Amino acid sequence: MATQNSGRDNQHQRFIQSLNAFTREHRAKHWQGTFTEFLDQIVARQPALVTRTSHQYIWDMLRWMQRKETNEPEESENNGVQLFSHELFGMENALRRITDYFKAANAGSEVGRRLLLLLGPPSGGKSSLVILLKRGLEEYSHTDEGALYALKGSPLHENPLNLVPYTLRSEFRETYAVDIHGELSPFCRAILEHEFDGNFMDYPVERIFLSESNRVGVGTYAPHDPTTADIADLIGSVDLSKVSEYGDEGDPRAWSWSGAVYAASRGLLEMIEILKVKREFLYLLLTLTQEKNVKVSRFPLIHVDETILAHTNLAEFRKFLQEKENEALLDRMVIVQVPYTLHYRDEARIYRKLIAQAPTFREIHLDPHALEVAAVFAVLSRLKPSEREDLDFSKKVRLYAGEDVEGYSSTEVDRIRHEFEDEGLAGVSPRFVVNALSNAISRSEVRSLTSMELLVTLKDSIEHDARIDPKQKRSWVDFLVTARKDFYNHWVKEDVHKALFVSFEEESENLLEKYLDEVEATLDNREVVDPITAESRQPDERFLRAVEEKINISDAGKHTFRQEVVRKAMVAYKRGEKFTLDSHARLKEAMEKYLFEERRDVLRLVTSVARPDEEAREKIAAVEERLINDYGYDRHSAREALNYVTTLLSQE
Ligand SMILES: Nc1ncnc2c1ncn2[C@@H]1O[C@H](COP(=O)(O)OP(=O)(O)OP(=O)(O)O)[C@@H](O)[C@H]1O
Ligand SMILES: [Mg+2]
Repeated sequence: MATQNSGRDNQHQRFIQSLNAFTREHRAKHWQGTFTEFLDQIVARQPALVTRTSHQYIWDMLRWMQRKETNEPEESENNGVQLFSHELFGMENALRRITDYFKAANAGSEVGRRLLLLLGPPSGGKSSLVILLKRGLEEYSHTDEGALYALKGSPLHENPLNLVPYTLRSEFRETYAVDIHGELSPFCRAILEHEFDGNFMDYPVERIFLSESNRVGVGTYAPHDPTTADIADLIGSVDLSKVSEYGDEGDPRAWSWSGAVYAASRGLLEMIEILKVKREFLYLLLTLTQEKNVKVSRFPLIHVDETILAHTNLAEFRKFLQEKENEALLDRMVIVQVPYTLHYRDEARIYRKLIAQAPTFREIHLDPHALEVAAVFAVLSRLKPSEREDLDFSKKVRLYAGEDVEGYSSTEVDRIRHEFEDEGLAGVSPRFVVNALSNAISRSEVRSLTSMELLVTLKDSIEHDARIDPKQKRSWVDFLVTARKDFYNHWVKEDVHKALFVSFEEESENLLEKYLDEVEATLDNREVVDPITAESRQPDERFLRAVEEKINISDAGKHTFRQEVVRKAMVAYKRGEKFTLDSHARLKEAMEKYLFEERRDVLRLVTSVARPDEEAREKIAAVEERLINDYGYDRHSAREALNYVTTLLSQE
């Protein structure tokens, strides 16, 4: 108890130290000064960093993240692919497209003047992706290279360089070799006149840190109810409480600058369900992206520099496409599809991540294939039938997961991937599977869940879901069956087979030795001497044939095969090497099959008798232990696996 307490005390002290270090660092990064000081201390030193647009800033942030994640000083070739690789699985394509967008925008392409729209099925990771970008921006703004400066008190946290009058901007360019893009906001213009008498050299400037919770450079807008949503949520309205103070509704200081568009200025505005909002909203946002300004009735155009990242689902998008007048709007968007992953291992990683976040899941044991088999089911439901008739869905699942499928090369996989542009945009969502998993867990009394139990729960969820139509229900249930037959059965059999051996390698090498001895004796036409009893006997032809039949060596071909084996063994012997199973692939296959079948009979025998004898019980217990110790099972799932495999065997 005492040591536990002192351990916690130490931890407590360390945590306090971390907090202190954090605030120290935070304070050290703060910077404040007049516009004159800003020009002297900041602009003169790194003019290119302070004139970045929001798109350029986000592009720099992405490169910074990429370097951080790969721990490499320089960027690697595959831009964007490693981005967020610990959080997002199987989203490489979408991430690459998004990175490409910012890269092009950074280079000054027109692309940066279009709104970025993420289009994807429900719970496909759109929001998660945007959250990561937002957190990335917040973090980056705390670094030296990500330092951002703003006019103090500006509701748009606008660039201080907006103060530089137009007539002097060409001189600015000649001096620092960079351009100023912005214009002073009506608010800061009013402050400049009333509080500084127009003397902008004294205008206070400060370093800002992007923060969604402080509404600095990061904003989210979600229409609660699209029909009542007011455009004022985006661009503000008259602040009546201040009108009496300034005596004029037209005074920019009497305007409420709390709109989402201002909050996100200099950074990123996330627009959720953008196609649900009123057309008026959409025009405003598209103009903002294209022209970098917004029109507010009583003021001249207000310059706003920010990146809008919107998302929507397919149903909304299709509805949107049906209206003719929307075509022109579409031209002003860059659409990035965010499909579900088609790689079942990536899909399983999503479940693993989601359940790791929920405390109730932590005490539950899942058998080693439960998440993978559910993932296979989900991926199956997302596939489209290939034009190649011999390519069934199970093969496609394997190919997409990078596994070998006979008759398909890796170049063909790329072609198959490109057969459909919209594969993965429909089907079972990760949330559907995780919900079923939660249900299964709350029902499970054993604190342990097997693949089969999970499949049963998924079937239940499908059958009881009123949103799914009957035809789809049937096809989803079929996918459960496919996942079980073509994947799970194979995996669980392999586990049990392997667990049947104390040391599979050792046993197969011993078997090889026996095979060689017998073969040599047959070829030399001599008897085999038993090492223990010293009795001699005829070579065991039945054993030899049993091994050889496993790899389809015919009776007529056995002689040639044996000679070849012996010749290879001799060559190895002369070279001073040991002849092992790795020297002969076919023989290795034969040995494995022989051993498996021998054990399978044991298993069959042992589990089929109603009351197994002591010896049988011990054998079963040993297999169970190995499943638990070496293959990731617990007692409950090991027993289930053994029973399951026995049933499978009895059907063979
Ligand atoms: N490819 C993925 N990698 C990692 N996590 C994922 C992935 N896809 C989905 N998730 C997880 O699934 C959950 C739902 O995803 P998210 O809310 O981001 O989806 P969405 O596309 O915004 O969905 P919606 O359209 O319903 O808003 C999140 O917890 C997310 O982390
Ligand atoms: Mg979302």
